[in-house]
This record gives sequence, structure tokens and C-alpha cells, in this order.
Amino acid sequence: MILPIVAYGAKILRDKAGQIDVNYPDLDMLISNMWETMYGSNGVGLAAPQINRPIRLFVMDSLQIIESLSPDEKKEYPNDNGFKGVFINPIIKGHAGDEWPYNEGCLSIPKIREDVMRPEQITISWLDENFTAHEQNFDGITARVMQHEYDHLEGKLFIDYLSPLKRRIMKNKLDDISKGKVKMDYRMVVIKS
Ligand code: NI
Repeated sequence: MILPIVAYGAKILRDKAGQIDVNYPDLDMLISNMWETMYGSNGVGLAAPQINRPIRLFVMDSLQIIESLSPDEKKEYPNDNGFKGVFINPIIKGHAGDEWPYNEGCLSIPKIREDVMRPEQITISWLDENFTAHEQNFDGITARVMQHEYDHLEGKLFIDYLSPLKRRIMKNKLDDISKGKVKMDYRMVVIKS
């Protein structure tokens, strides 16, 4: 089932999400709905707060991005083979490499894209959908998407990284999104805080 995506302006997108355990109700169904919602809106990642669940869970698929790169573009990300997975209670344990800019967007902030600086590599630990523990290093676009989705669990959005001037310039657009005035081809919900 495709779930409506919470629009910018809702308090849940600004709250720190809580950990879950194996007893969280109907988790398999929730994860399956999150995949359907993410692909249905052409997203590469989706965090639970974006579908109005205050829990530490996100899904992401950077394989689709890596596979769409030209051979020349792929050379820019030699250590990124893409990754698809479910992340429960993730912890970013470390960052490495230089900060680099990448044009980011967010399903909760439609029609706004901006370059954001983030570190190249991360080490992340997480539980998958079977509650099996993993720890791995990621690089390039994959590490980028993970950092963006992880931020959602901390109540942080990519626009927080922009300069005050850029934020001021986009204020009217953000206000429109928070009022539901931006029409998208996927379902969004405005939650008044
Ligand atoms: Ni996002």
C-alpha cells in the first residue's frame, strides 16, 4: 500500500525518532509499504518519520542510481557499488574523507534541490528486517543517501545545511509546501503541528 508522505512543516519531521525492537507491531507490512511508497514516488530513500511513524527505520536503494551512471560518471565513485536495504536503529559510527557537494532533494520537500556538503565515507551499524546486526563502510552516493536518511531519524533535513541566505530565498516555497500548495504526482499529507 502506498502511504502518503508527510510534507515539510510537520513536527514529526523535526523530532528525534525512537528505537524499535522485534515486537514492533506489523513491521513486515510497514517495511513493504515503505518500499512501495518509495518506489512509487521515484525516491531513493524513505525514512519512517516521513510516513508519520516516529521510529528509527529507513529504507534505501542506491543501486538504481549507480546503475544509471555513465561509465565516466561511475569513475567518480570507484568504491560505490550501490546498496539496497532496510535500516533499523542505525548508528553512524564515524565519518571519513573530504566533504563534497551533491545535489539533494527530499520527498517531504518537493521541487527543491540544493547542493549539500557531506563527508565521503561513513561507518554505519544497523539491524536489517530480520533484526540481524551489520556494520559496514560505505562510500560515495550510497554514503550520501544513508546520511540523508539517517538525518531524518534525528529530526534533521537537508535544507538545514544551507546558508541563511539560501534558506531566506526559499522561504516562500517552503511555506507553500507546509500548506499543501505544491501539487505532486505522489500523495502527500499536511500535518498541522
Ligand atoms: Ni529526505
